[in-house]
Amino acid sequence: MILRSLLFVPANSWRMMKKSMKEEADAVVLDLEDSVPIDEKETARWFIKDFLEEVENKKMKQNIIVRVNSAGTGLLQKDLEFVVQKGLNGIVLPKTESKEEVKETVKVLEKLEKKRGINKKVFLIPLIESAKGIINLREISFSSERVTAISFGAADFLRDMGKSYVKLSSNQYELLHARSTISVTARANNQLAIDSPFLGLIIDKEGVKKESEIASKLGFKGKFAIHPSHVKIINEVFTPTKQEIEEAKGIVKAYEEAVSRGLGATTYAGRMIDEVHYKQAKEVIELMKQIKEKEKNGNEDDF
Ligand code: GLV
Ligand code: MG
Repeated sequence: MILRSLLFVPANSWRMMKKSMKEEADAVVLDLEDSVPIDEKETARWFIKDFLEEVENKKMKQNIIVRVNSAGTGLLQKDLEFVVQKGLNGIVLPKTESKEEVKETVKVLEKLEKKRGINKKVFLIPLIESAKGIINLREISFSSERVTAISFGAADFLRDMGKSYVKLSSNQYELLHARSTISVTARANNQLAIDSPFLGLIIDKEGVKKESEIASKLGFKGKFAIHPSHVKIINEVFTPTKQEIEEAKGIVKAYEEAVSRGLGATTYAGRMIDEVHYKQAKEVIELMKQIKEKEKNGNEDDF
């Protein structure tokens, strides 16, 4: 699955939900959690239910994901009852701190999918945003085969650590351990690591780019966006560049030629290359293939 950009949309706004489907995000995340005030949660649940019914039989290019309320709120069960519908692809589970939270959610999903004749399995993306979540990440990651990605919420994480996003240092080293733990754990279980939304000034495009690059360097495969204008920047950072693709093709060609001559290593553009470079180059090419495949599809009708 390709999840480079995941655009958050408050689910109490029908207009924004509809509009988000015109953006180039790989996923839209209809939010029932922190962007929706408590007395609008019920309205938002109905909006999501109606929205999912509208997209149900259409081929959509985006994954449609819902961020439900967290396990401790008493709202989760009802959220799931509304949003587990045929048009739903995945759930973001915010403030996840234990494998039990995932397992409980899986039980509810299984029941609802069965009851509603949903053939596919809704996937889960735990959102890790506390020290406890980081400490328990290994078991959270391995708790269910539905966990296809692990995501990071920097604002809540910093709050939990007694820090504030506003005072974050420019290299963001306060987040380094949490980010590295998430990307390495996700990779160990063949899951995608998804970075926190950029929470600086909305107009700060350079800031979005820089933060996306930090995450990409640490092994993240995508990032949440809280504004449509961030989507393109994020997509670009998490897409191999022309130069990277050319280089990957060159490495594959040079290495395969070497192997056919009975060699295990050769040179490419002045550097020694062997199997590791070959494997890495193949991954770049495969990722690009998936991205191209995905971008071929548009949305049906007025979406
Ligand atoms: C997102 O939910 C965050 O807390 O950063
Ligand atoms: Mg949060």
